[in-house]
Amino acid sequence: MQLGVKHLLDIESLSREQIELILSTAQKFQASSGSAPLRNKSLAGKIVVTAFFEASTRTLMSFEIAAARLGADVMKVSTELSSIVKGETLRDTVMNLDAMGLDGLIIRHAQSGAPHAAAQVVQASVINAGDGAHEHPTQALLDALTILDYRKRLDGLKVVLVGDILHSRVARSNAFLLSKFSSLVVLCGPATLLSRDLDSIAPQVTTTTRLSEALEDADVVMGLRLQKERQQQALIPSVRDYSLEYRLTTERLRRAKPDCIVLHPGPLNRGAEMTSEVADGPQSRILSQVSNGVAVRMAVLNLLLGGEDG
Ligand code: NCD
Repeated sequence: MQLGVKHLLDIESLSREQIELILSTAQKFQASSGSAPLRNKSLAGKIVVTAFFEASTRTLMSFEIAAARLGADVMKVSTELSSIVKGETLRDTVMNLDAMGLDGLIIRHAQSGAPHAAAQVVQASVINAGDGAHEHPTQALLDALTILDYRKRLDGLKVVLVGDILHSRVARSNAFLLSKFSSLVVLCGPATLLSRDLDSIAPQVTTTTRLSEALEDADVVMGLRLQKERQQQALIPSVRDYSLEYRLTTERLRRAKPDCIVLHPGPLNRGAEMTSEVADGPQSRILSQVSNGVAVRMAVLNLLLGGEDG
C-alpha cells in the first residue's frame, strides 16, 4: 500500500487510513528495532540528511538509526558550523543541500512552518522532526504505537496530557492524531500554559486546569516538559509551584485506571514533571516510546522513500 504523500509535514493533514498504514508498517519493524541490530537493505543507495537547528537527542539519533537500519547513507548538517551562521537563509541552505542530490531531508527548526517552506523548494522528501510549537508528527506516531502496544486500540480512550501545552508541538500532534481515532484528549496545565486554540481541533479535545479531574479514569497520561526556551515571559511563578500542583506522582495517578500507562516524550525534568518513582515505575512506558521511535521512523522513511515493504 502507498502512503500517497511525498513529505511528512504534520498529522493534521493525514487521514486515519494513512496513520494506520504508518503504524502497521512500524509494527513490522518493531521486532528489528529492539536490542538486536537487525538491518535490511531496502533503502540502499538512498541518501538521507538530518538538518537539526534545535537541540535533540532521541529524535535525531532515532532518525539516523532508522535510516542506517534500512541501509541508507545518513549525513548530518552541523548546523552550528553551517553557513546559516554566516547569514544564509534556510531556503537557500535547503536548496543547496538538495542540489547535491538527496532522497530524504529531515528538518527540526524553531520556526513553525520551516519544513513546509523547505518542501516547496526541494526535490527530496521532507520530514518534519519538530517545528516550533506547531507539530512533531513522528513523535505522535510513536506515542500512538506505544498506546497500541499496551492498550490494543486508539479509539475510545481517555488520554491526558499534562504540562506546558501552549508551547508543545507534541501536544498538538497528539491532539490531532487521537481525535481522528475518537479518543478523548484532555489537555491539562496552569491557565498560562494552556493553548486557546487546541480545544477547537475537535469536540473530543478539551482543556482544564484541574489535574485531579483530568486524571479521573484516564487510560494514558503523558507528562510534557516545561519549555523554558519558548516562554517569552515567566508564565509560572516557579518550577516548585508548578510541581506542587501538576507533578505526576504515584498518589495522583491513583485516580487514573489501575492499568493506566505513563508516557513522556523526553527530555524529562525529573522531579518537576513527574517523580522518579513514576518515571521508573511499573506504569511507565517511556523507554518503550524511545524504542518505538526507531520503528516509526523506519516506517516513515520506507514509505516516503520507496523502500520495499518491511
Ligand atoms: C520534544 C520536542 O522536541 O518537541 N522532545 C522530543 O522530540 N522527544 C519535547 C520537548 O522538547 O519537550
